[in-house]
Amino acid sequence: MWNLCVCLCVFACSLQAMPLSKNNCLDRSKVLLVSFDGFRWDYDRDVDTPHLDQMAVDGVKAPYVTPAFFTMTSPTHFTLLTGKYIENHGVIHNMWFNTSTSEKKPYYQTQFVNEWWDNGSLPIWISAQRQGLRAGSLHFPGTASTYDGETALVSEVEPRLYNYSNETAWRQNIDKIMGVWFEEKDLDFVALYFGEPDSTGHKYGPDSEQRREMVRQVDRTVGYLRASVERNGLSQCLNIIITADHGMTTVLRGGVVNEIVLSKIPGFSFQDLDFHLVDYGPSGLLLPKTGRLEKVYNALKGAHPHLHVYKKEEMPPRLHFAQNDRILPIILWADLGYVINGYIPVQFNKGEHGFDNDDLDMKPFFRAVGPAFRKNFTVEPFETVHIYSLMCHLLGITPEPNDGHLDATRAMLLSSEQPHEKNSVMSRVFIGLGAVAGFLLIVFVVMVTHSVLKHTRKKQRAGSCEKSEGDDKKQTSF
Ligand SMILES: *[C@@H]1O[C@H](CO)[C@@H](O)[C@H](O)[C@H]1NC(C)=O
Ligand SMILES: *[C@@H]1O[C@H](CO)[C@@H](O)[C@H](O)[C@H]1NC(C)=O
Ligand SMILES: *[C@@H]1O[C@H](CO)[C@@H](O)[C@H](O)[C@H]1NC(C)=O
Ligand SMILES: *[C@@H]1O[C@H](CO)[C@@H](O)[C@H](O)[C@H]1NC(C)=O
Ligand SMILES: *[C@@H]1O[C@H](CO)[C@@H](O)[C@H](O)[C@H]1NC(C)=O
Ligand SMILES: [Zn+2]
Repeated sequence: MWNLCVCLCVFACSLQAMPLSKNNCLDRSKVLLVSFDGFRWDYDRDVDTPHLDQMAVDGVKAPYVTPAFFTMTSPTHFTLLTGKYIENHGVIHNMWFNTSTSEKKPYYQTQFVNEWWDNGSLPIWISAQRQGLRAGSLHFPGTASTYDGETALVSEVEPRLYNYSNETAWRQNIDKIMGVWFEEKDLDFVALYFGEPDSTGHKYGPDSEQRREMVRQVDRTVGYLRASVERNGLSQCLNIIITADHGMTTVLRGGVVNEIVLSKIPGFSFQDLDFHLVDYGPSGLLLPKTGRLEKVYNALKGAHPHLHVYKKEEMPPRLHFAQNDRILPIILWADLGYVINGYIPVQFNKGEHGFDNDDLDMKPFFRAVGPAFRKNFTVEPFETVHIYSLMCHLLGITPEPNDGHLDATRAMLLSSEQPHEKNSVMSRVFIGLGAVAGFLLIVFVVMVTHSVLKHTRKKQRAGSCEKSEGDDKKQTSF
């Protein structure tokens, strides 16, 4: 009887102790957002990708997702982090620029221009921290900036001239995030960025063997990441979303192509502009001098069959790229395969992005796996602006005002109910009280059984006094 009692007590105590294990794995859902820059939705079609395929079987896959426009790295990554279209978060280009001084800063330097990023929207890591969670970011665009004076609790910004393709470094970063950031530091949210296959796609083109080889490297890395999740005992609490900022398309070259060179367009002159941002893939922004907007617009509109020219106030609303002071009065973009050159052609990339987000080639891939997600499930395509609401839901935090909605991704979840998050203290108290109540109940049952047995035994003894103490013991200990 006493043995039974001790056994049950140990069992009850271990039940209560479990949620207190070091990474809070049972009472809180963690989220890892991974971006493989420029991973087009169909990059797994001409390469064997066993680990991405396995991830789709173990979780959720979308045929493709639709990024925000301009389909450019910093703007679309900030859409992932804020749930806002580009016109509403203000990071409208990879390059910071000043129209009065004509100063421009390239992608890497722009990471350190705080005002460019901190323009009234908070990335999810700040919102999470303000609601009591712990967050980190590794190399994700926007990591270097502060937001309303705050940064991610743990963050790492890549050095200048960083080699974004080094698989050994990728694995070291994964080990660090799983073993140290999630496990030791007990972070709830981490954003993780890889600069490939974008660089390879630009340099060699999306149809090259080099791009396929880089996709194999990405796939190996996904396998490594998932093994690392298992190794660190995180599979019961970590929800992983893997996606990208945009796709990639082949730039058309050679004599057959009628290249877009603005200086060659009759009636157009750079003399009519105060500022321009062209020679950056297929997109452009122009600031005409006072009183010359109509002249510039009329010269460009319809001048090239593959060049789209819009006044800011006439932009198609579906592109959500107008309602921001930083967006200049004339917006240009080219059809797939074309880039916009200024004075002379100076762009030699074999692959580009930045095109209309309706073009299939601009759409990234999407995979998700973890305790919150359905298994072997394909969802309808959706816009990446909705991923923010999904992550807030998984973390159990209240989203900032944004342009997305959980309804767009709800179908991929096992249950539409909130995962048990937030009130982790309360839930621990309840589990504790439950364990104590259970223990008291067991003690009560044991006592009652014991006294009933004693009573019965007394009665039996009254009939026959032959039963030994040894037999009695055998019956009750198991
Ligand atoms: C652009 O430069 C001018 C002149 O230095 C300065 O007055 C202005 O504040 C700058 N604007 C931005 C957005 O940095
Ligand atoms: C956003 O940046 C613009 C300048 O580019 C500035 O005029 C505006 O005040 C900023 N808004 C916020 C909320 O920081
Ligand atoms: C980056 O590192 C990889 C090895 O991981 C190497 O093959 C590649 O040449 C490096 N790239 C540059 C530009 O140094
Ligand atoms: C790749 O990264 C590893 C680990 O960070 C480093 O030791 C190695 O020198 C790097 N290789 C190249 C080619 O940059
Ligand atoms: C996954 O779903 C497909 C059909 O959508 C089915 O053919 C396949 O057997 C499923 N695989 C597993 C492992 O359940
Ligand atoms: Zn790129």
